[in-house]
This record gives sequence, structure tokens and C-alpha cells, in this order.
Amino acid sequence: MEILKDIKLNNYSTFKIGGPADFFVIIEKKSELLEVINWANKNKKEIFVLGGGSNVLFSDMGFSGIVIKNEMKGIEIVSENEQEVIVRSYSGELWSKLVYFTIEKNLYGLENTFYIPGTVGASPVQNIGAYGVELKDVFYNLAAINLETGQEEYFNLRDCQFGYRDSIFKRVLKGKYFILWVEMKLKRKGELKLDYSDIQRTLNERDLVEPNLKQLIEIIREIRDQKLPNPAVLPNAGSFFKNPIIKADLFEELKNQYPDLKYFVNNDEIKIPAGWLIEKCGFKGRRFGAVGVYEKQALIIVNHGGATQKDVLELVEQIKSEVKDNFKIDLEEEVNIL
Ligand code: EPU
Repeated sequence: MEILKDIKLNNYSTFKIGGPADFFVIIEKKSELLEVINWANKNKKEIFVLGGGSNVLFSDMGFSGIVIKNEMKGIEIVSENEQEVIVRSYSGELWSKLVYFTIEKNLYGLENTFYIPGTVGASPVQNIGAYGVELKDVFYNLAAINLETGQEEYFNLRDCQFGYRDSIFKRVLKGKYFILWVEMKLKRKGELKLDYSDIQRTLNERDLVEPNLKQLIEIIREIRDQKLPNPAVLPNAGSFFKNPIIKADLFEELKNQYPDLKYFVNNDEIKIPAGWLIEKCGFKGRRFGAVGVYEKQALIIVNHGGATQKDVLELVEQIKSEVKDNFKIDLEEEVNIL
């Protein structure tokens, strides 16, 4: 393990944006992590934990503390019975590798989240989700190292306070823990969640009524490939905004005004797809210098090459202000902005 200096962060973000980190270290083991925490506390350096870099927008000025790139690997079954299996994954594993591991073992629960970029360590922070499934639906337990004390602590489902793309690690405990491993409770016999419209459409196209786990993850990979830009080709950080949850009276008003309004209703919560709002404001596929709004999914801001954080934030302000003027809705960023 070596603490490096002046490492450009754009190479560690799928957005390909960001200035240098004063200090940067790659860790593979808990002992290395504890050493780094000690060093940072002694030298009064702020810590930023980096996973896959697929949901961050680094500052053009860089980061004056130490960035810890998490490469802690390992996936194992920690307990099982006839119905359920508990799988533990270390936080530096790629999320999709974990999902594939569970599919190979014929375990149900993670299939809809296949192909979400990023690492396991980031998954509880924002309660990742796709196609009607969120991490919280299968989450069992996690271990995390307190960055102030170096102590290992455990968080169960309730402790994490999961919400839509939200958890305690995004609020009061933001930046205070390094997630070590995450455990998921999966089922040997499960029911697939296929009600999402894109999945339904693809199944119909193929005359497939009851796909198996492998067929489903292939379908999900195809849907994601069609809608979401590959960051290796067109740098981006996935959905830039959250889908806003709105009050019933505003919903009624908007429904009258826009008969084609798209929405999801879940447990009395009305969610409007931000991509639809942004498209309605005319941003879809438009380019503003080095940044733009993706042509197939207006929720994604893309870097056409050489964009800065400043370029992105200017576009973000423009989008937010148009959405507010047209729909009286305040969009909230989903990407972690440093
Ligand atoms: N829509 C438009 N125009 C657009 C984009 C979307 O009209 O430009 C409409 C679609 O037609 C559809 C609805 O909005 O009726 C929802 O669109 P989509 O299925 O593409 O998903 P989303 O709501 O935009 C969310 C997640 C994604 C996740 C997908 C699939 C958030 C912030 N985003 O996007 O997650 O993959 O659902 O489940 O909740 C991410 O978090 O980075 C991410 C990519």
C-alpha cells in the first residue's frame, strides 16, 4: 500500500471530470484501511471513499484530503437453510459480479438490479435499485468502519433507514463510515418481478411468459444498453436527478394540464419520472458546449469530451429552473457532487 500524491480524479469517475486529489491510496485489506485512517486522522486530512466512481461528480479543483479507492474483494455464502441463503460481499466488488454470483447459484432477489454500475460498498449508501427492486428488499446486514475511531460497527435493515435512493449514510452519517461488507438474504425459490413496462414489452416481443433467472438478466442488460449510455463511450454518471415525489394536489393540477403525464404510484407516494419532465422542457438530446442531455434518456447528463464540473452545474441549474417554471417541481440531484 502506498499513499500517492496529486492523482487526477477524472480517471476515477465515469463522468471523466475532476481535478487532482492531494492524496490517493488503493486499499485491498482491512489492515491497510486502518493504517490509512490512522494516517488521515494524524495529518488532519479529510477522507473520501471511492468505489466505482459511477455516481460522483468531482470538483474541478480536485480534493484536498485523501481519496481511498476501495479494492476489497470477496463474495461468500455465510449461512443457508432450505429456503434462504445469506450472501456476503466485500465492498470493493463490482455490483454486477455479485449479482452474477447469485444467479449462477440460482438464488432469487438481485436479478432486477443486474448491470447497475458501481461497487457493493456504494449500494447501501443510495439504496440502489432498478425495475421495481431496491437493495432494501434483500438487505440483511452490513459492517462498516467508523472513520473517526477505526471501530467496526454493524447496521441492520432498520439502522440503515433506507428510502428512495437514500439512507442514513447519505444524511447524518455522510462521510463518516467505510462500508466493509454487505450481506443480502436471498431465496432459493422466488417469484420474478416482471411488471415493469420495459420488461413486459421485451417479454412480449419474444413470446416469453416465464423467463428463468439467466434469461431475465439478459433482458435487463439489453434494456439498459438501449437506454443508458455506456460511460466508456459517452462519459456520464447515470440518472443525474431523483424522480421527484409530489403532493396529491399538484398531481391533480399537472394531470389536468398534461394529459400525457407519466407517473408511478406506490404506497400513496406519487413519483414523476424526471426524465419525462426534462424531455417536456425540450432538453432531450440537446448539447451545450462540452455537456449535453442524452438523446435516449433525458435523466442523464453526458460529457461530450473535456467537460468541467462548472459546465455540468450550469446545465443543471438551467434544467432545474425550467422544470420549476413549467411544473412547480424542484428537482434534486441523485449524483454525489463534491
Ligand atoms: N421518460 C421519458 N423521457 C425520457 C426518459 C424517461 O418520457 O427522456 C419516461 C419513460 O418513458 C418512462 C418513465 O419516464 O415512462 C421512466 O423512465 P425509465 O424507465 O427510463 O426510468 P427512470 O425513472 O428514468 C429509474 C432509475 C434508474 C433505473 C430505471 C429503471 C432513478 C433516479 N433512476 O430511471 O436508475 O435504471 O428507473 O428502473 O430512480 C440510476 O439511479 O442511476 C439509474 C439509472
